[in-house]
Amino acid sequence: MKTFGIGIMGCGNISETYLTLIPRFAGLEVRALADLNPEAARQRGEAFGVAPMSPEEMLGREDVDIVINLTVPDAHFAVSSAILAAGKHVYSEKPFALTLEQAETLRSIATERGLVVCSAPDTFLGGALQQARELIDDGRIGRPTSGTAHVMGRGMEHWHPNPDFFFKKGGGPMLDLGPYYITALVHLLGPVRRVTAISGAARQERIITSQPRAGERVRVETPTTIHAIMQFASDAIVTIGASWDVFAHGHHNIELYGTEGSLFLPDPNWFDGALALTDQSGEREAVPAWDHPLGVPNWQRPSGPDLANHRAAGLADMARAIVEGRSARCDIALATHVVDIMTAILHAGDTGEMVTLTTTCERPAALRPEDARALLKQN
Ligand SMILES: NC(=O)c1ccc[n+]([C@@H]2O[C@H](COP(=O)([O-])OP(=O)(O)OC[C@H]3O[C@@H](n4cnc5c(N)ncnc54)[C@H](O)[C@@H]3O)[C@@H](O)[C@H]2O)c1
Repeated sequence: MKTFGIGIMGCGNISETYLTLIPRFAGLEVRALADLNPEAARQRGEAFGVAPMSPEEMLGREDVDIVINLTVPDAHFAVSSAILAAGKHVYSEKPFALTLEQAETLRSIATERGLVVCSAPDTFLGGALQQARELIDDGRIGRPTSGTAHVMGRGMEHWHPNPDFFFKKGGGPMLDLGPYYITALVHLLGPVRRVTAISGAARQERIITSQPRAGERVRVETPTTIHAIMQFASDAIVTIGASWDVFAHGHHNIELYGTEGSLFLPDPNWFDGALALTDQSGEREAVPAWDHPLGVPNWQRPSGPDLANHRAAGLADMARAIVEGRSARCDIALATHVVDIMTAILHAGDTGEMVTLTTTCERPAALRPEDARALLKQN
């Protein structure tokens, strides 16, 4: 297969993960790094042996085919527009757009220019969520009729070195962590028809406790607690609670209830995790993990067991999709629908309305173990 030249725009926190994981996938070679802050690009370049350069220089490089947009959410639209204008494909971190209008604009520019835009998250391609997909498609819980999702925690100011963007427009738990949950749910259940929500914020100001800015204050400009209800096109009803105002809770990440049983799913921010299933008896049984290469733990944490982190799987699938002339699993139709759902939830939270969505999408194709194996370099 052709090797795609990759450029990375934005050399902050998450760029290290991409630079570590991309070399494990076939058909990808990182050839350029750029950042508004030249020092950030220089440091990553030195650590990973990739040429640092200015954003303009990277966009002019003939040997860069896909640019990964790892800038902050507020810059995603402008940066992705510039990448497309330079004639290159885009793989963006989430949320790839902050409004439906931005999403549709990128989609029409890409279509016009024959370019592909894809977006994180790609964690739904992991072993756990793909196994959940197989269980649902095999009818193990019957027809899914309802469920719950909870992504709640204390916030971001205790660990991220520059946590400001999490509390600004484009941040907040719905746009920051919602993509993992909502993308996973659309992948499992199909598109959403309408949403409603109530939202708020426990604090108007957050105090940074991480280094190097401990003690600085960040003004909160987005809801930090959102409780929403989504009705899927299939009629399934799922409640989602997203908050950065919660110190502890006892909810499961995702639970899906069907006409024949229930399915308990792990954190969709990772590629692995425990699944459990019940039938109509209600007796919960652990599901042994299947042999899926994107469910294999490979990522050390400061404490606790290793986790599976195969970020860049979506990028590898995108490259292969371009070669094969098919839709990528993380393509812009899915990402646009997810942005539509999240922004409609935020709008509903502001206004109290029930919002009927204007977009829809196909469920992305399943990524079975053999499909995943084909994305990885064969050693
Ligand atoms: N940090 C994580 O663990 C994590 C995980 C998954 C996804 N993400 C997503 O990845 C994105 C980046 O997150 P991060 O934590 O790396 O942020 P960060 O603040 O650490 O890094 C962002 C970098 O982008 C650069 N930048 C900003 N605007 C730019 C522009 N217009 N052109 C070029 N460079 C620009 C900044 O100088 C900075 O170095 C966010 O959308 C976030 O939601 C982060």
